[in-house]
Amino acid sequence: MAFFTQPRLEVLFDKEAIAKRVAALGKEITQHYRDDVAGPDGRGLVVVGILKGSFVFLADLVRHIDLPVQIEFMGCSSYGDATESSGAVQVTQDLTKPVSGRHVIVVEDIVDTGLTMRYLLDNLQSRGPKSLKVASLLEKPEKNRANIKVDFLGFSIPDQFVVGYGLDAGGLYRNLPFVGLVLPDTAGQS
Ligand code: IMP
Repeated sequence: MAFFTQPRLEVLFDKEAIAKRVAALGKEITQHYRDDVAGPDGRGLVVVGILKGSFVFLADLVRHIDLPVQIEFMGCSSYGDATESSGAVQVTQDLTKPVSGRHVIVVEDIVDTGLTMRYLLDNLQSRGPKSLKVASLLEKPEKNRANIKVDFLGFSIPDQFVVGYGLDAGGLYRNLPFVGLVLPDTAGQS
């Protein structure tokens, strides 16, 4: 029984498809960093989740990374409740530890225009990490105007607004276990 009214959604990526892709990304990340971060001198990988949208993806992804991992979060808001990027990024929460000399992966839910990620990468780069890469569940390549390279990508999608698996519309739907496309409300039409 549903306890709240969902928008009309078309499932783009279901639970199983996401789980499979996230497991593959975790494996890819493990292989990429294994020699650098896991040896006796290795200090582990720093995974920086961007709040709030990345929390579901990050929680699943890190459980597929077979390396010493430290988790940090950055709070960042660029959207308010609107569905178009304003380009203005506000940092609402910062890292708790320095990342100088560390291998860092920034984890996002979606790279849309890329303006948020460009700001975050410039910000983190200025702190002197040993390496800095991007993992994102989704990207909208048609919209990316900040020249962001997503090193570890879940799925590319067309320029459409999606919710679920961490992604919200007006703060809701982050808890849906799938990624869905919000369809126009046709209630009352036949
Ligand atoms: P960008 O700065 O345009 O790349 O926007 C990135 C942020 O916008 C993401 O972290 C999301 O919070 C939000 N966003 C962009 N596209 C969508 C979408 O389709 N659904 C939900 N949030 C989105």
